[in-house]
Amino acid sequence: MPSLINHLLSHRKSGFALDRAFYTDPEIYAQDLEHVFYKEWLFVVPVCELSDTGSYRTYKIGDYQIVVVRGADNEIRAFHNTCRHRGSIICKAEKGNAPKLVCPYHQWTYDLDGSLLWARDMEPDFVPQDHGLKSVHCRQLSGLIYICLADEAPDFETFSEIAAPYLAPHDLSNAKVAYESRIVEQGNWKLVWENNRECYHCSANHPSLIRTFPEDPRVSFIGENSVPGFIAEHFASCEAAGLPSSYVVPANGQFRLSRMPLVEGAKSFTMDGSFGVHGKRLGNIQKEDAGVLNKFHYPSNWAYFLPDHCMTFRVTPISPTETELVTCWLVDKDAVEGDDYDIEHLTEVWLATNSEDRRVVEDNQLGVNSLAYTPGPYSSIHEASVRGFVDWYCETISPRLSSSKTQAE
Ligand code: FES
Ligand SMILES: [Fe+2]
Repeated sequence: MPSLINHLLSHRKSGFALDRAFYTDPEIYAQDLEHVFYKEWLFVVPVCELSDTGSYRTYKIGDYQIVVVRGADNEIRAFHNTCRHRGSIICKAEKGNAPKLVCPYHQWTYDLDGSLLWARDMEPDFVPQDHGLKSVHCRQLSGLIYICLADEAPDFETFSEIAAPYLAPHDLSNAKVAYESRIVEQGNWKLVWENNRECYHCSANHPSLIRTFPEDPRVSFIGENSVPGFIAEHFASCEAAGLPSSYVVPANGQFRLSRMPLVEGAKSFTMDGSFGVHGKRLGNIQKEDAGVLNKFHYPSNWAYFLPDHCMTFRVTPISPTETELVTCWLVDKDAVEGDDYDIEHLTEVWLATNSEDRRVVEDNQLGVNSLAYTPGPYSSIHEASVRGFVDWYCETISPRLSSSKTQAE
């Protein structure tokens, strides 16, 4: 019975941070999983991670184990990574390549399309067709793989149709992962998102990032009705170069796309503002000052698309006060390390920024854990997008709590 969360949601003060329990309470955490992460589309990996038949990636979210795999027919599918015999996990590695999916316990063997091919010494009336892997909704969006655990997945097409033209010039179909980092932040997943949604903290915490990313709040957030002149000019010049750029956000605020200018003279997120990849840049973007296409999609993904490389970020809650962040740096598949790019030059800014963000999120969690914490007000100049995230969360979870309550009655 979700009484605590209902009570807190009904007493919530809009424009303020959430109550302590939203960031600490195991019951609310369980409801976040059930009503948000088990219901929404979640980004898992870039498609280029599954380039060959049998390439797979595993993913754990809450109490679910998932495997995403490319079949012999080239189709990418997602399954519950749970054997249909006695339930063992099947693929244990984080990533790999397998001609068939073989359970390590009694070797039940599944085809890459999830069907059960072989089970030793079962009864004569055993029907293998009844014991295929349970499938999970799986979609591709311009080189990014999303899954959804819900029986009936929410609409993906609206997001996909809006986002695809923005992503197309970045051509992730020709990408490879140059570097991947995984960190675990000792903070609730909502604190990770709130921190990502503002640059109020940038000047004091991100010396490397602000070399190229403008602290100007008009760049990190545009109000619904107000696109400042210099940003409108940037959109227009990018669109004239064939790059969809204008700010787009749906009515429920779940995602946003916008191509923003970097600081004058900067081309990419590097310490000196030069491209992180020379020669074979990822995508087809001739306009070197196109800036950064910012994309986010709640609750699991933000991403940056630059004229030379791209970055994806995946947010996965692990416990009420722990969140995994996986960052991938994508470059052209033919770019050669040491020749076209130097890993340190490519990754330095965002490795530092992720680490700085981890520190501020963890400090935020420590303070919120105190019984003396009370939610404070957001700055409408700098934190409008934080408010947008929190509103999306509350408005998304609220009706689902009511309907699960109704079903339970
Ligand atoms: S649990 Fe998988 S084969 Fe027995
Ligand atoms: Fe930050």
